[in-house]
Amino acid sequence: MNDRVNAPVVLEVRHISLGFGGVQALTDISFDVREHEIRAIIGPNGAGKSSMLNCINGVYQPQQGQILLRGEDVGRFSPRVRLRRVAEMGVARTFQNLALFKGMSVLDNIMTGRHLHMHTGLVAQALRNPWWSRAAREENTQRQHVERIIDFLEIQSHRKTPVGRLPYGLQKRVDLGRALAMEPRVLLLDEPMAGMNVEEKQDMCRFILDVNDEFGTTIVLIEHDMGVVMDISDRVVVLDYGRKIGDGTPDEVRADDAVISAYLGTDH
Ligand SMILES: Nc1ncnc2c1ncn2[C@@H]1O[C@H](COP(=O)(O)OP(=O)(O)OP(=O)(O)O)[C@@H](O)[C@H]1O
Ligand SMILES: [Mg+2]
Repeated sequence: MNDRVNAPVVLEVRHISLGFGGVQALTDISFDVREHEIRAIIGPNGAGKSSMLNCINGVYQPQQGQILLRGEDVGRFSPRVRLRRVAEMGVARTFQNLALFKGMSVLDNIMTGRHLHMHTGLVAQALRNPWWSRAAREENTQRQHVERIIDFLEIQSHRKTPVGRLPYGLQKRVDLGRALAMEPRVLLLDEPMAGMNVEEKQDMCRFILDVNDEFGTTIVLIEHDMGVVMDISDRVVVLDYGRKIGDGTPDEVRADDAVISAYLGTDH
C-alpha cells in the first residue's frame, strides 16, 4: 500500500459545488485519487456520495469547481462530449440501483460494456448488412473478451441466464462485469455490496481486490459497511451534508472526532 502514497494523481476533484434547486448536494469538495489506490467515499445517507460519482463521470455538471482526469479538465466539454470523453479516458462505474437489462443474458449484459471498443456499430451487426463478415469477426473478438470477464468473475454457469433470474448478489457481480468490459483504468463503484449477505460481500471484496491487483485498476468505492471500507481502502474521504469532514487513511479517519460524531457514531 505504501508505494501508492507517492503514485501519480489520476483524478483530482477541485472545489466542487453542486446544487439541485434548493438542495445543496455538494459544497466545495476537494480530494485526489492516486494511481492504483482504492479510495473510499463514505458518509451518511444523502451526504452526496452518489452525486460526487456523477460529477466525476460527467453525468452532472457542478456549478463550481473542476474535475481533472490525468490533468485534463473534463468540465470544459459540452455534456454529450464530456460523457464520451470521460469514458474514453477509462472511467467506468457501477450503479447503486442496478442498471442492467433484466431480460437479457449475463453475457449480453456484459457485452453492452464493450460498445466503446467496437469498430463496427451494433446496428451493422444487428442488420447483418454487407459488412457482415467483418461484423461477425468483430463480435467474436468482443465475445472472447467478455468470456474472459465471465471466467474472472466465476459466473460461467450463468452466462446464458437472463439477469433478472439471478440472485441479487450475482446481479451486482454482473454489473461489475459490465463495467469491467469497458477496460477501465478508473472504476467507480457505488455501493457494490449493498443488500448482500456476508458471503456475497466477501466474494465482492475479493473481486474488487483482484481487479485492483491484477489489472492495476484505480478504484473509487462508495460503501456503507465500515468493516469493508477499513479493510480494503488505502484512503477514505468522509462526506456529511455535502461537505468534506474527513480525509485520510482508515486509521486517521477512524480517529477523527468530527467523523466519529457525524458518521461512525451512527448505526451505519
Ligand atoms: N437528481 C437530483 N435531483 C435533485 N436532488 C438530488 C438529485 N440527486 C441527488 N439529490 C439530492 O442530493 C443530496 C445527496 O444525494 P446523494 O444521492 O448524492 O447522496 P448519497 O450520499 O449517495 O446517499 P445514499 O447513501 O442514500 O445513497 C440528497 O439530498 C438528494 O436528495
Ligand atoms: Mg448514493
